[in-house]
Amino acid sequence: MNLRDFLAWAEREGLLITVSRSVDPNLEMARILHALDGRPVLFTNPDRPGWQVAGGVCSRREHFARALNTDLAGIVPRLIEALQHPVPPTRVEPAPCQEVVHYEPDLGMLPILKHLVGDGGPYVTAGVAVIRDPEYGRNASFHRLMQIGARTFTARIVEGRGTDTAWRKAVAAQRDLEVAICLGAPLHVLLAAAMSPAPGVDELAIAQALAPTPLARCLTVDLEVPAECEVVLEGRITRRLADEGPFIDLTETWDIVRPQPVVEIDCITHRRSPIYHALLPGGLEHKLLMGLPREPTLFQAVSEVADCRLVHITPGGMHWLHAVVQIVKHGADDGRRAVEAAFRGHGSLKHVVVVDEDIDPFDPNQVEWAIATRFQADRDLWVFPDQPSSSLDPSAKLVPGQKARSAKMGLDATIPWHDAGGRPLTAEERSGFRRVGYEPIDVADYLERRDG
Ligand SMILES: Cc1cc2nc3c(=O)[nH]c(=O)nc-3n(C[C@H](O)[C@H](O)[C@H](O)COP(=O)(O)O)c2cc1C
Repeated sequence: MNLRDFLAWAEREGLLITVSRSVDPNLEMARILHALDGRPVLFTNPDRPGWQVAGGVCSRREHFARALNTDLAGIVPRLIEALQHPVPPTRVEPAPCQEVVHYEPDLGMLPILKHLVGDGGPYVTAGVAVIRDPEYGRNASFHRLMQIGARTFTARIVEGRGTDTAWRKAVAAQRDLEVAICLGAPLHVLLAAAMSPAPGVDELAIAQALAPTPLARCLTVDLEVPAECEVVLEGRITRRLADEGPFIDLTETWDIVRPQPVVEIDCITHRRSPIYHALLPGGLEHKLLMGLPREPTLFQAVSEVADCRLVHITPGGMHWLHAVVQIVKHGADDGRRAVEAAFRGHGSLKHVVVVDEDIDPFDPNQVEWAIATRFQADRDLWVFPDQPSSSLDPSAKLVPGQKARSAKMGLDATIPWHDAGGRPLTAEERSGFRRVGYEPIDVADYLERRDG
């Protein structure tokens, strides 16, 4: 589902908030997006002639369910299916994203937001970068871009992932890495680009498996991009470094300033009446787009060692650092194995709780109830010191240029298999841990009707 179709659907559903007053992308727009976090918003007059700005696009699971033509429970199975069976996309011409072409690009024409006074500069936050690795082929992923000139950015490129790996190969070969940055990409493309499949798996083929993703050949770089994007910035990730940041990231805390690669833009193409996608850093859209696409790989990893039913990368952990995993337990060790597998399935995970199938992983009260009634810290707690972890966690060991490191913790909050003496519990004893429910009743019959 492309951005325009999504906005039309949101308007029909009465979800869309339209702001027609003139709004400044310098600080003012971010404040409005923050105040309306969780709602799709369209700024029709962002004091950049001919442009509109959309935000809050990916701020609810329901939006993704609509984009994938499924319901909430169907999202993760669809992502798993696409991850397991990517489909090579085909090319179209002419392409909507190339209706207007600027061979003398000036980033000043785009409504790039400055979000906070303390930011290092205006930032592109919803850019999907398409590159080609000489060994692994095409890769698509997100990189925040701090504007430092009329045609230049510094890009935050996390060490060890697809873009970083390809860029280091280009540097070693003493050349720049060609890149095409897609703005206002279709929602299924955003989901696919946020997944982290094995090297060599093309995220745009995952996108095609989710929904039709026709591609366009770029004009100045040897790359292809989703033809229904709103804007494409064609250029190169150079060998030059410059400071990137300060900037708030997912955790809503300041990330550190680092020397990062400079990106030079050689050509800008876009649709007529283009819509710029402004993703609020630290907002719901940022968090959900980071975490939801990791639930498939987390589910798959746990399914290899236990009977996994549901996984949830939770909002309290910014949809990134915390997860709840629901299993049907068939053996004493299933909880511990699920904990270890969860950390394999999502490398940035910091804390995980494993629960039984009668506990809803989307309900934090039920999860806490399971910890309160089924968990013993001297039996069911697993701590893994000094693990590779997320650079977004301000409490992690952060050394520029090195992978962040943290202690990780898993809680097995499933019904115990043995008693304190090690004797296996009977099925009846284990059922004693389950919540006793009251028969549901329709109370309407018992309520006094005031209108006599
Ligand atoms: C909204 C959003 C912003 C992101 N920002 C960055 C970023 O600035 N730098 C980065 O390296 N990864 C960022 N990521 C994470 C990567 O895009 C993501 O991990 C991707 O899946 C990596 O793919 P790869 O393993 O195929 O390279 C962001 C993800 C999302 C959803």
